[in-house]
Amino acid sequence: MTNVIIIFIHLLAAGTALGSLLYCLKVYLPVVEKGQTERDENSPAYKMLDLLAPTVFASLLILIGTGVYYLLENYSAQVGLKPGYYNLFGTKMVFVAGAFFTSMYVTFSLRIHISDLDLSPENKKRVPETLRKMIGLSKMTMWMVAIALFLGIWLARY
Ligand code: HEM
Repeated sequence: MTNVIIIFIHLLAAGTALGSLLYCLKVYLPVVEKGQTERDENSPAYKMLDLLAPTVFASLLILIGTGVYYLLENYSAQVGLKPGYYNLFGTKMVFVAGAFFTSMYVTFSLRIHISDLDLSPENKKRVPETLRKMIGLSKMTMWMVAIALFLGIWLARY
């Protein structure tokens, strides 16, 4: 029963991370930015990323927490695993680490450059460039989460 609950939360967080990234970057943003050339701190791109970035980061924290807890709960069953399980697991962790650090950088560094404009007005001229970087890195996070999701499903059926 505990395993079912842990994996349920793991999958819920994976769905939230990938679902929100896909919807915001591939559906919402292209629609609201149609015909718009310049971005600034009032543009929909920033309003969207200001919510998306912490949501994805929190989901990744939940994924790491539930993943580690699952391993701890089942550690005595880990001895009978087929060879190659940990190769797959290690590959998944590379993508998880990549997604974690890009998401952390967007959430706690780039996002703050824009939200703190009244304290650091010198950042104002760099807003379009910062938003471009935030979108690019969020797309990278999206691909890494998608690959980690695929590897997670493979892992569970290995
Ligand atoms: C981007 C982050 C992650 C995503 C998208 C992800 C996704 C998934 C998915 C889809 C499953 C399959 C569940 C099932 O079908 O039953 C899974 C299983 C699992 N994940 Fe993750 N996961 C992530 C991060 C992590 C982390 C950080 C850990 C551990 C430190 C972890 C450990 C596990 C374990 C142990 C399983 C079960 C494998 C088995 O049943 O043998 N995951 N994950």
